[in-house]
Amino acid sequence: MVKKAELHLHLEGSATPALVRELANRNGAELDPSTFASDGEYKWKDFWDFLNCYDKAAAAIRSAEDYRLVTYDYLKRCATEDVIYVETFSSPDHAATAGMSYQHHLDGIIAGIDEARRDFGIECRIIVTCVRHLGPEKALSVAEQVLQNPHPYVVGFGMGGDEAKYHPADFKPAFDLIDQAGIATTNHAGEFGGPESIRATLDHLPVKRIGHGVRSIEDPDLVKELAERQIPLEVCPGSNISTGLYVDYQSHPVNQLKEAGCLITLSSDDPPFFATSVGREYDRTAAAFNWTEEDLKQITRNAIQSAFCDEELKEKLLTQI
Ligand code: ADE
Ligand code: ZN
Repeated sequence: MVKKAELHLHLEGSATPALVRELANRNGAELDPSTFASDGEYKWKDFWDFLNCYDKAAAAIRSAEDYRLVTYDYLKRCATEDVIYVETFSSPDHAATAGMSYQHHLDGIIAGIDEARRDFGIECRIIVTCVRHLGPEKALSVAEQVLQNPHPYVVGFGMGGDEAKYHPADFKPAFDLIDQAGIATTNHAGEFGGPESIRATLDHLPVKRIGHGVRSIEDPDLVKELAERQIPLEVCPGSNISTGLYVDYQSHPVNQLKEAGCLITLSSDDPPFFATSVGREYDRTAAAFNWTEEDLKQITRNAIQSAFCDEELKEKLLTQI
């Protein structure tokens, strides 16, 4: 099997419905019944409803031990698909809503990463994210917490949430603070926002990568620029299909972006919400566009070369492909 690497995964969104129910039971926490459909899977109807459902599920993750378990459980599943590296987003705002400090949520994730390495040889690093629709002040506060609690596994800062809310420039103070400390950043753009959202991100934020970026396809000049500057795109086709952006893999722009020379990586985003996994993203994308094993190996190389971890780890991972 081709070795795989993933750069775009929301840790709270990686927890399966079964694990979320188990955590809620253990914690004696009430889960909003509208979180699940009658078959036990997550229930949501569009992107904005998905963000709501995500919040309801994340509310079950209440302690460092819960974060350890969510991290370990995800990496264990990844290891069965020959994933050698995951860069996971963590959301201190979701942790705080569930009653946890920044340091507690981080301690749990770090423990899960160490145990997964010991048991499966898989590596993982953390990108701490803010939530765009919670606004620039919250984002700045997350950035400050990142700088006040440094850890070698925290290699980046990112932003998810509703792209229609606020403007990238509003988040410049948070991103600049992180950038000045030498920490890399990425932003979700060109998922539900159009190409102008990617353009605004590139104009105002010091990002090294773009989360999704697929709607750049609507602006040929932007595609050309992304390709020329080799700005890595964290592409999540299954997520985009599930949330209704494209009807199927064949209509997804990932292959056109690849052929235009863009630097493409493949990720699962929030796998149990979108009935996917890193392995399925590799398989389904390859099947849709007749990608070869060498194409897929290049996707993994792209991810490792675009990762925010240190060069020594990148070198080690590249030898495993
Ligand atoms: N948070 C979790 N998943 C997300 C996505 N796909 N887009 C924006 N914010 C998110
Ligand atoms: Zn995402």
